[in-house]
Amino acid sequence: MKIRVIDRDGNKHELEGDPNSTLMEILRDADLDIEAACGGCCACATCHVYINDQWLEKISPKDDDEESMLDQAFDVRNTSRLSCQISLSDELDGIELEIAKE
Ligand code: FES
Repeated sequence: MKIRVIDRDGNKHELEGDPNSTLMEILRDADLDIEAACGGCCACATCHVYINDQWLEKISPKDDDEESMLDQAFDVRNTSRLSCQISLSDELDGIELEIAKE
């Protein structure tokens, strides 16, 4: 599956995703400057991304933990999500997103 990413410098990348991973793991392993300081346990917000509008509804909704962690993130938008809370699936093949500023 493909993941289309715009990095913090505005450069586009097409990554190969694995349906057994979270979105954060793919971004981190691609060296796109995702810190993911807490390792994916929804406790840092350093994996903040903006999901393209068209894809938002295909992703499972935020739970309370993600909401409260996003409250502390910088420049939060309607399309903000924590990438460690998004499990990849074939349904998300082609997903487009942008990495949020630190
Ligand atoms: S990696 Fe820490 S909240 Fe996602």
